[in-house]
Amino acid sequence: MIILAIDTSCDDTSVAVVEKTKAGKLKIKSDIVSSQEKMHKKYGGVYPTLAKREHQRNLLPVLIKALKQSKLLETTNGKLQITDKRRILNNKSEKIKQILEREPGLARELVKFLKKYQKPRLCPSGYGGQAKIEAIAITIGPGLEPCLWTGINFARALSFFWNLPLIPVNHLEAHLLANFLLKTNESDIGYIEKVKLPAIGLVASGGNTLLVLIRDIGQYRVIGQTRDDAAGECFDKTARILGLAYPGGPAIAAEAAKLQMANTKLQIKLPRPMLKSKNYDFSFSGLKTAVLYDFKKRSKRTGRSREYVGAMAQEIQQSIIDVLIEKTIKATKGFKAKTILLGGGVICNKELRRQFKKAPALLKTEMLMPACGLCTDNAAMIAAAAFFHKQEKIPWQKARAEANLRI
Ligand code: KG4
Repeated sequence: MIILAIDTSCDDTSVAVVEKTKAGKLKIKSDIVSSQEKMHKKYGGVYPTLAKREHQRNLLPVLIKALKQSKLLETTNGKLQITDKRRILNNKSEKIKQILEREPGLARELVKFLKKYQKPRLCPSGYGGQAKIEAIAITIGPGLEPCLWTGINFARALSFFWNLPLIPVNHLEAHLLANFLLKTNESDIGYIEKVKLPAIGLVASGGNTLLVLIRDIGQYRVIGQTRDDAAGECFDKTARILGLAYPGGPAIAAEAAKLQMANTKLQIKLPRPMLKSKNYDFSFSGLKTAVLYDFKKRSKRTGRSREYVGAMAQEIQQSIIDVLIEKTIKATKGFKAKTILLGGGVICNKELRRQFKKAPALLKTEMLMPACGLCTDNAAMIAAAAFFHKQEKIPWQKARAEANLRI
């Protein structure tokens, strides 16, 4: 079984093709991500209307790249009679324009594409003539509403034209299920059957930070979440205070690593918000405020030295790592979890990965973390989640964005 997946929840346009092998493993055929990072760097954050416009521009080229890489793209040359082609398109292109009425440029390009290429199903060179895309997985939330709708409308148009069902996917759940994509995991467990349950899931991304008790796939209970800023948001906002580029996570990690090599004596101490609180919730806005006050105070005295920025970056990173690890340990003990599943952009952080693996309290607990490229937003994880929900297929008319969708 092959699933085509689309994600446009925030500022990355992504399309992937994932195949479930006979052995039940989820193999990535392609996972194309077109990042809008450069554009948003100028503004220090993501502007939904700009992001939506970029998705409209990027979706078709990214789809073509993903299909080509999966060897699923064949021209209609010689396969369809010209008259058939006209008949099919004349009947259907008006409807495609209606589905994509808010994306007229994308609709025009899509109709041209559909004239040129066949439904990506049979491709003798790639799959011995056996392969079929059976469904299109689409992120319906949570995320930026205009961005979600662009991806959903595109998926609806493809679903309508190719007569394929849609599988609606929760982006947060997908961050956790990215752990079941083949060869993405450092411990290479590979598939769910081997995972000992219950598990604790930690999603730490730009918009969300939550701890989830996982009794089985689909049986989740959110046991803790952030009361204000998400961990990634804290990286992004504090980086901005320090004059570092967007996205802040990688920028802070790079400054912190540089400082480690330079070996400074400058000491900065930031709070670890809610570290010892009795619940599993997080709060990161106080950390951001502490950074702002310290930055203002010191800049008056010493200005913004490289050493100061490095020391601050290191302390911000360590404060976030401490809180995430401590709360995960607490949840693991509290619910006697046998496995930990990590996911989301912040899990890309090298220092965080290293410290999670070395945490003495977690040494006996199986820990899964996707490869870095599968922690940040990507469509392969959307396909992974769809395989677990393949019974939840819907017709194209029913797909709706749910910007505030929860697990
Ligand atoms: O999961 P993601 O790609 O998008 C959302 O669904 O939100 O996460 C993006 C977030 C950003 O806030 C970014 O600063 C953070 O993940 N991030 C990192 C690193 N790479 C990305 N944070 C810390 N260290 C990193 N290496």
